[in-house]
Amino acid sequence: MPSAKTIAVTFADALPDEGLIAVPAARGADGYGALDERLGGALGRAARASAFEGKPGQTVAVPGPDGLAGATVLLVGVGEADKFDVEAAREFGGRAAAAALDKHESLALALKDTRLGALSVGTLAVQAAAGAKLRAYAFEGYRTKDLDKLSKLERVMVVTDADGAEAAFAGEAAVADGVMLARDLVSEPPNVLHPEHFAERCRELSALGVDVKVLGEAEMAALGMGSLLGVGQGSVRESKMAVMHWRGAEGAPIAIIGKGVTFDTGGISLKPGAGMEEMKMDMGGAAAVTGAMHALAARKAKANVVGLVGLVENMPDGNAIRPADILTSLSGQTIEVLNTDAEGRLVMADVLTYAEREYDPCVMMDLATLTGAILVSLADQYAGLFTEDDALAAEFLAAADASGDRLWRMPLGDAHRDMIKSDIADMKNVGGRDGGSSSAAAFLGRFVEDTPWAHLDIAGMAWTKKDQPVCPKGATGYGVRLLDAFVRARMG
Ligand code: BES
Ligand code: MN
Ligand code: ZN
Repeated sequence: MPSAKTIAVTFADALPDEGLIAVPAARGADGYGALDERLGGALGRAARASAFEGKPGQTVAVPGPDGLAGATVLLVGVGEADKFDVEAAREFGGRAAAAALDKHESLALALKDTRLGALSVGTLAVQAAAGAKLRAYAFEGYRTKDLDKLSKLERVMVVTDADGAEAAFAGEAAVADGVMLARDLVSEPPNVLHPEHFAERCRELSALGVDVKVLGEAEMAALGMGSLLGVGQGSVRESKMAVMHWRGAEGAPIAIIGKGVTFDTGGISLKPGAGMEEMKMDMGGAAAVTGAMHALAARKAKANVVGLVGLVENMPDGNAIRPADILTSLSGQTIEVLNTDAEGRLVMADVLTYAEREYDPCVMMDLATLTGAILVSLADQYAGLFTEDDALAAEFLAAADASGDRLWRMPLGDAHRDMIKSDIADMKNVGGRDGGSSSAAAFLGRFVEDTPWAHLDIAGMAWTKKDQPVCPKGATGYGVRLLDAFVRARMG
């Protein structure tokens, strides 16, 4: 079973004499520091010759000077110096890694005496290292041929004079490992990663001190989880719910809930064939929850957090649910299924009820690749944030800012609840095309009784078709850094 390629990250106070040496260069910088002096001004000349302005992502390379003759020095544009923030630091590391990937085994981030924006040298070093680690991710275990075309990068050395950067990086590395676990889960093909396989991957977190419990179909049927089980009944794979509990503190837990549809064909309301392969990412919410639990346990967070994932496969079959079927959820509420492709909300309904009843959390949040409509609204730029709790919305928007996992608040209210009224049952599972992301959120809200709750629609964010500064194309691991930042701000 393939997993992330791991890059070794080390901290040093002198430059190596091999590989790629990346130097951050702000827009309009009046010089390129001590290294350029050592190069006899070659960096400045190369920058002028290639009209290098220090725009984010712009680069210019020169051969290493005497003593570093085995190396290549690369200026990496980072934009305006006074706007330089943690995200810019991560992007610098990511862009440097991207430049090194297919040519160099070793990358050095030259950050000694570097002052950019209001960042401390320590934060700059740690965040740049994290960015490089995230960008160097590759899911490459299924290739048996042309292995020489795969990434060459093996080591990242952060050259800094900051004290304690290496120790501070351990926490960031834990979060990056969580992001990469989420990417691994999303990348895994759906014939391998079915509900039971996913549950096994959750169980592996027990090695980090997470309490893991997995419920199968018999246990969920005994509880009355008819809504989740309805979605899975057309699949030969057994539906599961995995519960991961990290008890790093006392008190009521934070509950994080993820949609884990390991493949979404649409069911009897079958999706069109073109692009259906994208639906292997329909467990991106559950992957984010699992990755976040990994991050929290690996950094030994002083927080009480329970992660719950509903794991099912949505298939058309003689035993599958039909449009017009009525399901009874764990909450007791009945649901008229008018479209079997609106299955995510059916899965999440029962997991939300279970989480609230079993754990009495202080706050609940769910992450789900829930609607195509959120892509119409927000493209691949933001996940949609739905909550009627303004204070909770503010907490999430702050966590988004701190983490780089971008969020945009969307509307949710009575009008959206009206859209899912059924003529025959307590609600229907589709609210029409207009405002489809909000009516889906309103549906989920019916399964939360009195706990502060937010829903994040990540359908546009779990996968990227283009390379990003800190993420190669493919699975993004969106949500892990956001959840970690949310928990960190609230509990530690
Ligand atoms: N998993 C899809 C949503 C999705 C779309 C995720 C694109 C990622 C990328 C979800 O189960 C779905 O099929 N939603 C339907 C709902 C509709 C039938 C009300 C949709 O968005 O079309
Ligand atoms: Mn669907
Ligand atoms: Zn789906």
